[in-house]
Amino acid sequence: MKILVIHGPNLNNLGKREKSIYGEKTLQEIDALLKKEARSLNVELVTFQSNHEGALIDFIQEQSDSARGIIINPGALTHYGFSLLDALIDSKLPVIEVHLSNIYRREEWRAKSIIAPVTQGQMSGSGWRGYVAALQVLVSKLKAKPSR
Ligand code: DQA
Repeated sequence: MKILVIHGPNLNNLGKREKSIYGEKTLQEIDALLKKEARSLNVELVTFQSNHEGALIDFIQEQSDSARGIIINPGALTHYGFSLLDALIDSKLPVIEVHLSNIYRREEWRAKSIIAPVTQGQMSGSGWRGYVAALQVLVSKLKAKPSR
């Protein structure tokens, strides 16, 4: 079972970017923790980060036929990335949205996620642990459901 983990713009800077908001861990450290969890859940993980909406869309289009679900932190595209939203809809895969920070406790413009209505759920404000929890939830939902 293959799961896609997608990180949007500026998340490559984790570990040096606004640490009091996003935490100390680098993206590589978060991906490594996720891969460890994936091994214990017996699933394959493909991780991808880009600062470009089109590259995220290309990745989703290329990978979605062979994948069973998506975990995505769209970064600021959460709030306005309509092409990314369309690509997630077209993938027909279950999506779980992750935010390191609690987007509802920050600036007003961050409190609106255009992605949320097409997701199975959202983790917001639990830091890197939110990614691990999202993976556990997605895999247990998929294991409860036959493959398409
Ligand atoms: C974020 C929240 C977004 O508002 C922001 O633009 C990000 C990161 C988060 O993980 O908390 O880049 O998605």
